[in-house]
Amino acid sequence: MRPAMRVVVVGTGGREAAIRAACARHGHDVIAAAAFDADAHAGVDLVIVGPESALVEGVADRCAELGIACFGPSAALARLEGSKGFTRALTAELGIPSPRFVRTNDHDDAIAWWHAFGGQVVVKLDGLAAGKGVVVPDSPAATLAAIRSLAQHGPIVLEELLTGAECSLIAMCDGTTARPLPIAQDHKRIGEGDSGVNTGGMGAYAPAPIGYDPDELTAIFIQPVIDHLAALGTPYIGVLYAGLMLTPDGPRLLEFNCRFGDPEAQAILELLESDLAELALACCEGRLASTSIVVAPGAACTVVAAAAGYPDAPVLGATITGLHREHADAVVFPAGTDGTVVTGGRVLAVTGRGADLAAARAAAYSAMGTISFEGMQVRRDIGWRAAGSLVTSYAAAGVDIDEGARAVQGMKAAVERTHGPAVLAGLGSFGGAFSGAAIKALDDPVLVASTDGVGTKVELAARLGRYRGVGADIVNHCINDVLVQGARPLFFLDYIASSHIEASMVAEVVTGMAEACAVSGCALLGGETAEMPGVYTDGAFDIAGTLVGVVDRADLLPTPNVAAGDVLIGVASNGPHTNGYSLLRRVFEWLPMDATPPGFDCTLGDALLRPHRNYLPVLEPALSTGRVKALAHITGGGLPENLPRVLPGACDAMVQLGSWPVPPLFELVRSACTAMDHHELYRTLNMGIGMVVICAEVDADTIQASIPERTWRIGSLAAGTGIVHLLP
Ligand code: AMP
Ligand code: GLY
Repeated sequence: MRPAMRVVVVGTGGREAAIRAACARHGHDVIAAAAFDADAHAGVDLVIVGPESALVEGVADRCAELGIACFGPSAALARLEGSKGFTRALTAELGIPSPRFVRTNDHDDAIAWWHAFGGQVVVKLDGLAAGKGVVVPDSPAATLAAIRSLAQHGPIVLEELLTGAECSLIAMCDGTTARPLPIAQDHKRIGEGDSGVNTGGMGAYAPAPIGYDPDELTAIFIQPVIDHLAALGTPYIGVLYAGLMLTPDGPRLLEFNCRFGDPEAQAILELLESDLAELALACCEGRLASTSIVVAPGAACTVVAAAAGYPDAPVLGATITGLHREHADAVVFPAGTDGTVVTGGRVLAVTGRGADLAAARAAAYSAMGTISFEGMQVRRDIGWRAAGSLVTSYAAAGVDIDEGARAVQGMKAAVERTHGPAVLAGLGSFGGAFSGAAIKALDDPVLVASTDGVGTKVELAARLGRYRGVGADIVNHCINDVLVQGARPLFFLDYIASSHIEASMVAEVVTGMAEACAVSGCALLGGETAEMPGVYTDGAFDIAGTLVGVVDRADLLPTPNVAAGDVLIGVASNGPHTNGYSLLRRVFEWLPMDATPPGFDCTLGDALLRPHRNYLPVLEPALSTGRVKALAHITGGGLPENLPRVLPGACDAMVQLGSWPVPPLFELVRSACTAMDHHELYRTLNMGIGMVVICAEVDADTIQASIPERTWRIGSLAAGTGIVHLLP
């Protein structure tokens, strides 16, 4: 290890603060200098020049005379930055990919070139103009105006307007060797979304995920210049910064700078683990090839705070609070401040570090949140382009169209089995087409439609990876809903939404739907599968469906003669069907789904996922007697809220608890929910009765006999006001 060096860093902005920090953390004695005064800096080991102006003034040349190592090129070489025309001529000679251009003193020549070129151009002043000498005109009139106005100030350069994201390729050079630092991206515009006027830079981040290898870019854009200058006997020592535009045809050179970028340096140098002073000295001594540049993993994000009125007319003098706080994963680099008040346009920069850019951004913004001054301008979007640049396809954004197509293949056969001659257009068509010919046979056909979902039962299905049953659930639920109006199903359409489409999962769900449709002669006419990452949490899905059925008007239920004295016949449920799952999932949170509680004939998971039964087959004979007055499907709201839907206003339903056996699953819930009263329980769960048939007392035996399974008389109707009484 070399002993600590005395390092003078020329310049006093944010970039120079970052350079000083990168040297100081390796123990060097670092001196900040507004300008380089050799006499004032006797005994200096190394000078690092921050701003281009100092280079153009010849700091490196002066150091060479004095025999002081200086990291930065001579004034002659700084023309690479100082003269756009010189740079364009050189890069054209070296074959470095660049926009087409012309350099001229004469605005008529410029206009002639522009007309011959025939496309949109950028107009630039040839000399150094601190970022203000570039106009990107948005119309032919603006182009003419820009040419005329810039040409008054000296030679101009016209360039082909390129499009694409920009990035900063910053390399350290020792005269023969060039080595890149992490690629950065800066945000030059004042406004969010990269809108508004150009500034000195409102933020930057590194490494920028641009999809190009830094070494390859260095070989294309930097090394040819270094080789050329070495061959001329004027070796280039210092930073060579290539501003690149990533066009659809590949990267193109926009400009060279002879220095670190500001605010790129504040980001990049925070990632540099190597000793910057050592690296700079190795460059001065031609030893870069044998020196390694070590870069930390993770990312850095720099956010600039600018003064009110910046860039046009910065308001100075505001008092800054929070400037000197320490942050665990962020550093503050003062620039336009004396440590107390605002003294310049770009007041300070905050660089956050993190394992990735998201973490680095968060760290930067969190630290920035502790600093304030009047009129402070901070862009909230620094790094936004990185998010988009990681997305290569819709699939990379989480949506896989091909997987959707595979899902269709997986469900096709089962779906098409539900298609009778009435289906004119099904799978793959924009809308399903269903012939109404058959329903013309009815005297007065009434279409009955129902849309529903299966609630949070889907969460349990996803958790246990069992999808087919919920497909049956949704169809049967809808069949039961139209059945209570006396209707028979015609066709069904489904909707499946998930965080991520897995063809096999979707095919399972739809196959479950198709099988349930087939049982009742219902066509599965169409559907939609939506992939919605970020809306649904990982692995989650939801299903919904719409069923349309038909009934002759004369057979519509309920009949108008439901009355006091009628009997309630309970038909068993085969589980919670699709209701109460938010409660059930909570109650059984710590009970393993493969446990078999007492009285169960299957595991808890099986009992909870058992598909909602379809009441059409068992009730068909009862309905054909013509004596059923009403049916109530016991869904969400249980007996207390579903019976009233078919009660005339002048009747109450008297339900006798204990008149049917409550199945073990519901008993288990009751025993666990000690703080829940029975009314609440019966309002949440069906408690063993999934459908209630209402008929006249005299018809009750006939109806019960027509139902091919055990049913119970669970109560009757009495004069009242349309409410349900649960009698103990
Ligand atoms: P320069 O100082 O030459 O880098 O120009 C400043 C900014 O103007 C660049 O960062 C770009 O945003 C824009 N610009 C410069 N040249 C071009 C070009 N040929 N095509 C499109 N944009 C350009
Ligand atoms: N951030 C752009 C520059 O330093 O030129």
